[in-house]
Amino acid sequence: MSDQHDATDAGRLWGGRFTAGPDAAAWALGVSTSFDRHLWRQDLAGSAAHAHELHRIGVLDAEERDAMLAALERCAALFEQDAFEFLPTDEDVHGAIERWLVEELGTLGGKLRAGRSRNDQIASDLRLWCRDACDDLIALIGALQAAFVEQADAHLGWHAPGYTHLQRGQPVLLSHHLLAYVWMLDRDAGRLRDARERLDESTLGSGALAGQTLGLNPQAYADHLGVASVSPNSIDAVASRDFALEVLSACAILSVTLSRLGEEIVLWATSEFAFVRVGDAYSTGSSIMPQKRNPDIAELVRGKAGRVVGDLVSLLTTIKALPLAYDRDLQEDKEPVFDAVGTLRLVLPAVTGTVASLSFDRDRLAAASVGGFALATDLAEELVTRGMPFRDAHEVVGEVVRVAEERGVDLDGLDPAELSAIHPALDADVAARFDPQQAIDRRDAVNGTATASVRAQLDRARAATAANLG
Ligand code: ARG
Repeated sequence: MSDQHDATDAGRLWGGRFTAGPDAAAWALGVSTSFDRHLWRQDLAGSAAHAHELHRIGVLDAEERDAMLAALERCAALFEQDAFEFLPTDEDVHGAIERWLVEELGTLGGKLRAGRSRNDQIASDLRLWCRDACDDLIALIGALQAAFVEQADAHLGWHAPGYTHLQRGQPVLLSHHLLAYVWMLDRDAGRLRDARERLDESTLGSGALAGQTLGLNPQAYADHLGVASVSPNSIDAVASRDFALEVLSACAILSVTLSRLGEEIVLWATSEFAFVRVGDAYSTGSSIMPQKRNPDIAELVRGKAGRVVGDLVSLLTTIKALPLAYDRDLQEDKEPVFDAVGTLRLVLPAVTGTVASLSFDRDRLAAASVGGFALATDLAEELVTRGMPFRDAHEVVGEVVRVAEERGVDLDGLDPAELSAIHPALDADVAARFDPQQAIDRRDAVNGTATASVRAQLDRARAATAANLG
């Protein structure tokens, strides 16, 4: 094999001013078909819009336009069947499609390039791809939220320990804890929705960077493609990738949400916690230890976050300090975006299945929810309602805890005499504060863990979920 490409290879779009083709190593570095082939659908859609515009300005007659549109459809069918053949001489998806059109249509195939550049094509293709990706991910998030809503609904009334510093803090409803994820995920979906709205902007008609002289109308491309608006500046249009960074940021934050969930499932499934059992379909065995039941899926979910965060950092680093307008560095935008979105497309359905498969241990959760003096805050707040400054109440209850700890009992294990010896305000009525159900139901504000509050919260969670499911 020759170590140089012919300067006029059919798959290259720029041989004219060169006498020799690129060195094989240089070519290998620049060729992008292995990944930008995923943009075929968007590239063909842009080309169809372009054929219409070229007809409107008189570069293609009606017959040529129709022949072009029909060829683009045939090309799409090939891609659809995974039968489009890339040649080693194709530099990128744009060149490959043009090469194919010339093979198919002869000189007509060469007319499509008028007035456009791969710079505005790729800017358009990736935006369109990201738009669809956002829609997909939002719907997948909705499905995960639905799994949480269902679990929260099914376990309404069950008690669970609420933690800070991974130490038992206050009792909550298990459903309140589960619904926290619905709102985290809702913001993740919201970030994707925001990104989608800003990237819904057409860049075709920007040419290489300064627009074009043929009279092509940027608005017409937006109309053909069903894109909301037109980029107001051709330089910005071809140079900017902040839209991809926004999608990647939203993906990175989402993957971090999922990673926290993965960790919590791993933790709750340990024999130390034993709050939850992961369904068989989402658990794995060990090749050596026959008794093992491992939460591999939750661990993989946790682990994938590193990779998606890496995708964001990778593109941030590439774009930092790039001068306007287009630079070839920008070719590095695609793989991180494809990787992050592809990873989440894989992860989200697996998480949804895992969450739906969880079976909780009511007794273990209830026992843990009152352990560790979890009602101490309630006791302090009771003293506050009796007029004691919280600062003093904190001290008094601190002493109650110390005495209970010495005696090796929980708060409700102290008798009335012991309590009133610590402080006269600790009368028989405060014993009512040692009931977890009451502790939960007194927290009845709109954001609280009281049964009535959580029931209302469930309705809101259902509505938010439905909006994402679309
Ligand atoms: N493969 C290129 C990319 O992904 C397409 C644009 C190439 N433009 C250029 N002037 N070489 O960015």
